[in-house]
Amino acid sequence: MIKVNLSNALLKEDLSNYKDQVATLHNVLKDKTGAGNDFLGWMDWPVDYDKEELERIISVAAKIREEVDVLLVCGIGGSYLGARAAIEAINGLFPTNKVQIIYVGNTFSSNYISQVIEYIKDKEFAINCISKSGTTTETSIAFRIFKEIAEERYGKEKARERIIATTDKEKGALKTLATNMGYETFVIPDDIGGRYSVLTAVGLFPIAVAGIDVRAMLQGAADARAKYDDPDLMTNECYQYATARHILAKQGYKAEMFVTYELQLAMVAEWWKQLFGESEGKENKGTLPTSGTFSTDLHSLGQFIQEGSKVLYETVLRIEKPQSDLEIPSDPDNLDNLNYLAGKTVDYVNKKACEGTIDAHTNVGGVPNIVIDLEKMDAYGFGYMVFFFEKACALSVYMLGVNPFNQPGVEVYKKNMFKLLGKPGA
Ligand code: PA5
Repeated sequence: MIKVNLSNALLKEDLSNYKDQVATLHNVLKDKTGAGNDFLGWMDWPVDYDKEELERIISVAAKIREEVDVLLVCGIGGSYLGARAAIEAINGLFPTNKVQIIYVGNTFSSNYISQVIEYIKDKEFAINCISKSGTTTETSIAFRIFKEIAEERYGKEKARERIIATTDKEKGALKTLATNMGYETFVIPDDIGGRYSVLTAVGLFPIAVAGIDVRAMLQGAADARAKYDDPDLMTNECYQYATARHILAKQGYKAEMFVTYELQLAMVAEWWKQLFGESEGKENKGTLPTSGTFSTDLHSLGQFIQEGSKVLYETVLRIEKPQSDLEIPSDPDNLDNLNYLAGKTVDYVNKKACEGTIDAHTNVGGVPNIVIDLEKMDAYGFGYMVFFFEKACALSVYMLGVNPFNQPGVEVYKKNMFKLLGKPGA
């Protein structure tokens, strides 16, 4: 399902130098003896997930699909990025899915919130509020606003049936509210952090409402879990990616650009950026995760990558089989001189653009390229890819010697903001 190609990675050290360290860290992960080991629930989740809850997710999603035009997914960071990544990657940017998924609770922009209010004015909607802490301010403000609109429109009792809470099993303001109001509730497990939570109800409920096969997604992750349960760096490609990142950081690269050749994968890049950025960027260490969608961004960032300062390397996610393809037509006038491509497909051109770019960036520009080939971006492939990156991230960050599973730095701006807002006790 996934192949890692390091032939253009310009590594100055042999992978095999890290064989022993990787085998040790494999056991640290498996035996749960490392830093942040109370957040390793994602490792077994693809097989240990709550089976009863999955059935409930699927049946509530089916009911919501019958009843509404729009599902408002109200969450931020790990509480929405994975769902959005999956939904856009699999359904595309102009989905024919019956229910439109709209993301709120991820901004303080009054413009955006007002636009959503206007947009849903004459549409049937439901809300899935997702928050592990239950107290995230962006999410809480949006939920308060849309809950009030739902209650005014449908009445308190009927609105109750259109609100689904995904939160901690016992604590937090959202849990209390959900219990008091009798909302349908799904649980975010204690031992799975936000950025590792896409395969829990956090991601699976909105993904199921979007009409995607969540069982296949979990199966993809379960198969990846089995595949990468291998301590040997020389055969474990997940660990090869993690180790290549580690070597490139030691070679002085400060940034990793996650590159795709599909516009609908832009949110996969956002999910990946949170995963690596929040896991690794602490103690003044870590590689800056950034992203590009090619060939689009080759017309903006391409110059810098090719000839600018050598701060970054690229990790290119290639999808072997596109979800759809189309042939370039022949034109008798050939005024655009494109007839040499007539009969070829657009995906063929995309793949050649990718091949040519990797060669140009690596062999002319001296920019290392790690290439990851994913067979297909369907529900199964997405689940497989999620587990691959989650495990690679955990190992890579352990190699750096920091705790991959906390995020102490994200509180600093909140403290300042609360003080400025006059929050009691701040
Ligand atoms: O990964 C994380 O921990 C964060 O991105 C959180 O997911 C994000 O801040 C939202 O938190 P919560 O789910 O508590 O509202």
